[in-house]
Amino acid sequence: MRVLVTGGAGYIGSHTVVELLTHGHEVIIIDDLSNSKKEVLNRIQTITQKVPTFYQGQVQDEPFLTQIFTTHSIDAVIHFAGYKAVGESVEKPLKYFENNLLSTIVLLRVMEQFNVHKLVFSSSATVYGTPTKMPLTEEDPIGGTTNPYGATKFMNELIIKDYCVAHPEMAATMLRYFNPIGAHVSGLIGEDPQGIPNNLMPFITQVAIGKRPELNVFGNDYPTRDGTGIRDYIHVVDLALGHVASLETMQQNKGYVVFNLGTGKGTSVLELVAAFEQANGVKIPLRIQPRRSGDIAENYADCTKSKHELGWVATRSLIDACRDSWRWQSKNPKGYNQ
Ligand code: NAD
Ligand code: UD1
Repeated sequence: MRVLVTGGAGYIGSHTVVELLTHGHEVIIIDDLSNSKKEVLNRIQTITQKVPTFYQGQVQDEPFLTQIFTTHSIDAVIHFAGYKAVGESVEKPLKYFENNLLSTIVLLRVMEQFNVHKLVFSSSATVYGTPTKMPLTEEDPIGGTTNPYGATKFMNELIIKDYCVAHPEMAATMLRYFNPIGAHVSGLIGEDPQGIPNNLMPFITQVAIGKRPELNVFGNDYPTRDGTGIRDYIHVVDLALGHVASLETMQQNKGYVVFNLGTGKGTSVLELVAAFEQANGVKIPLRIQPRRSGDIAENYADCTKSKHELGWVATRSLIDACRDSWRWQSKNPKGYNQ
């Protein structure tokens, strides 16, 4: 397939581009580089020995997008492009609603114009809001999101769902990611957060490399086995392979469909730190801090549906992910800014 990948220079996008290319698909990337570096394209080429076509620009720039659909006969779109920082979304809600919603609306409009009927959308476990039971299945209620970023994911799902009602020819797959960590085994591509990382794994690797003195553990008084928050950490390469599986099963999975992409296993903050130390032989100093506002005690996926309908399961272990995150960070202490 010839696949348009929006946000393909980003963390999950770049890993997905690598897997698409190695599975024989052709890739066209659109990215405005607002949260990524052009260097990632050289790294993708080194890994795959293939050159993805790249356009720098915004998805919501309709003339720009139309030009790309005119130039390339596109079979399917994977839509990663969007802003994702929870804290910033609370401070600048309009920035998030504008970028994350307009990009989808314009994309759907241009896809309609060019009769492109296959879409994979990057959703998030954040759409489940504050869940009342674990593990989470795709049938569990969504909404009740606790920040504008989460609201944009929920609203995007609604927009795409209603679009599918009006366009029965569509195959639109919502992939609800749990917590992606890890990096490509080559250590050539990985997560490259700007400024202070919000998420746990990039913070751990920055402590390991000596960029930050210690890890702040946000709360040890949750009703969990060791009091720290539990999440479902999934290796980013497994996540990328979930996108390939989604595209390749779209013929069967017509209409609007939703899948959880996780491992089905919950890991606490202290367990992740211990796994990282064990995998890499590096000590992570930590300090217990108060809870972070908006956090929930635990969150992990039921992935039965993905297994049966996508034929996909996460196969990489937590230790693999810890080793790969560290390989990326230690080989690239300044990320792509070498
Ligand atoms: P990322 O920031 O690394 O990648 C997103 C890419 O999109 C960046 O390269 C950025 O420059 C680009 N971009 C942003 N807005 C754009 C626009 N309007 N037009 C063109 N390019 C634009 O983020 P990521 O971690 O790779 O996440 C990819 C997607 O998955 C996002 O939609 C994110 O919300 C979603 N997601 C991520 C996580 C996570 O933990 N990383 C979890 C759940 C869902
Ligand atoms: C966060 C977002 C979520 C988003 C996801 C992926 C919040 C409240 N939620 O999820 O909407 O979809 O990232 O980008 O921001 N932790 C620490 N110390 C740290 C960082 C995190 O103890 O320095 C703990 C957290 O309290 C949590 C766990 O580690 O228990 C995971 O945190 P994080 O990586 O930020 O992911 P989520 O909170 O699950």
